[in-house]
Amino acid sequence: MLDEKRILLIIGGGIAAYKTLELIRLLRGAGAEVVPVLTRAGAQFVTPLSVAALAGHPLHQDLFDLTTEAEMGHIELSRAADLVVVAPCTADLMAKMAGGHADDLASTLLMATDKRVLIAPAMNVRMWEHPATQRNLAQLRTDGVLVTGPAHGDMACGEHGPGRMAEPGAIVAAIGAALGGGPLAGRHVLVTSGPTHEPIDPVRYIANRSSGAQGTALAAALRDLGARVSFVTGPASVPPPQGVTVVRIETARQMLEAVEAALPADAAVFAAAVADWRVTHEATQKMKKGAAGLPVLEFAENPDILATVSRHAQRPALVVGFAAETENVIAHATAKRARKGCDWIVANDVSPATGIMGGAENAVHLITAEGAEDWPRLPKPQVAARLAARIAAHLTGHTE
Ligand SMILES: Cc1cc2nc3c(=O)[nH]c(=O)nc-3n(C[C@H](O)[C@H](O)[C@H](O)COP(=O)(O)O)c2cc1C
Repeated sequence: MLDEKRILLIIGGGIAAYKTLELIRLLRGAGAEVVPVLTRAGAQFVTPLSVAALAGHPLHQDLFDLTTEAEMGHIELSRAADLVVVAPCTADLMAKMAGGHADDLASTLLMATDKRVLIAPAMNVRMWEHPATQRNLAQLRTDGVLVTGPAHGDMACGEHGPGRMAEPGAIVAAIGAALGGGPLAGRHVLVTSGPTHEPIDPVRYIANRSSGAQGTALAAALRDLGARVSFVTGPASVPPPQGVTVVRIETARQMLEAVEAALPADAAVFAAAVADWRVTHEATQKMKKGAAGLPVLEFAENPDILATVSRHAQRPALVVGFAAETENVIAHATAKRARKGCDWIVANDVSPATGIMGGAENAVHLITAEGAEDWPRLPKPQVAARLAARIAAHLTGHTE
């Protein structure tokens, strides 16, 4: 994916520097050459030896290093890359970049480069939310700097919130996107995910057990292949992936609206567990227990998103549905494919005994015009990677 790409990787002085070692490994695995630069503070967190050994490349640390300057001057170093990546990008580095400082090797390279710069900020939540950091972030975006993350989550300092460095895989994806790489570069793929919530009254709703894990993994896998991904998600229990356009909805009707608004797309994958029915008359006030006895709910059918898009004027070239079945999985899914007019159905058995709905693994059957393929039981990210590769092969005409 990154064959023959040269990444100038600047490692700042943050705890997340240890994750950058994994980033180096992934980048090299993807075919990139990694030229590492470690700041003075960065060297407090990872050793120069680890960085140079993993990168398989001499490390640059000092601006006034006569040997390095004689071999390759700092100006040349800053330009002999396809992309400059700063990970972790500390609050201090962001401030230096926004202010145009050039008082050490890293900041001088960032000032001298004529290449795009991608930063992966990482810091304590208070530092991230500080008005100075947010001002610097806005300035950097205005200057055309690409930003990946930070993610929400627990931090090494014990606090919780935005500030965690994006995971190495997500940074690789952002690098791929910045360099326009991957078999799905230039393609737009729409993915739906999660359950829908169908309101009964202002506090109650009808839902299902979908976690959104499979749809989320699929969006991430498509993004990793270079696609621009629109991710329409119901109230899932896993966070959406980074590097995709997220549209949050609650009901099936809102999901259809968001899906139609995201068209045109080259492919659409409908992994969401959309409620078939909604309550006909949603109560405007909380329903009360009382003399009237038990409430009786009347149902109306929700729009069929898969069938609607399969017959849409802007139908994507490839429309993939999911079928969650509890019996006769292949027969039901094959019938569903014909009924809905989609191209493929990814069918899975969601009987409680399988542990698939809300679980970490999935065992699917891919139903196409050629018949049914049985895939082995795999972790959901692996099912996603396999499906994303199939989608890429189909859209590009290349076999895997
Ligand atoms: C244990 C420890 C952890 C730190 N972690 C971070 C961090 O995650 N993000 C950050 O912006 N600064 C962090 N700092 C502060 C930076 O190391 C400090 O601002 C440094 O000057 C940044 O140098 P740089 O510009 O080379 O990145 C940390 C400091 C210490 C002592």
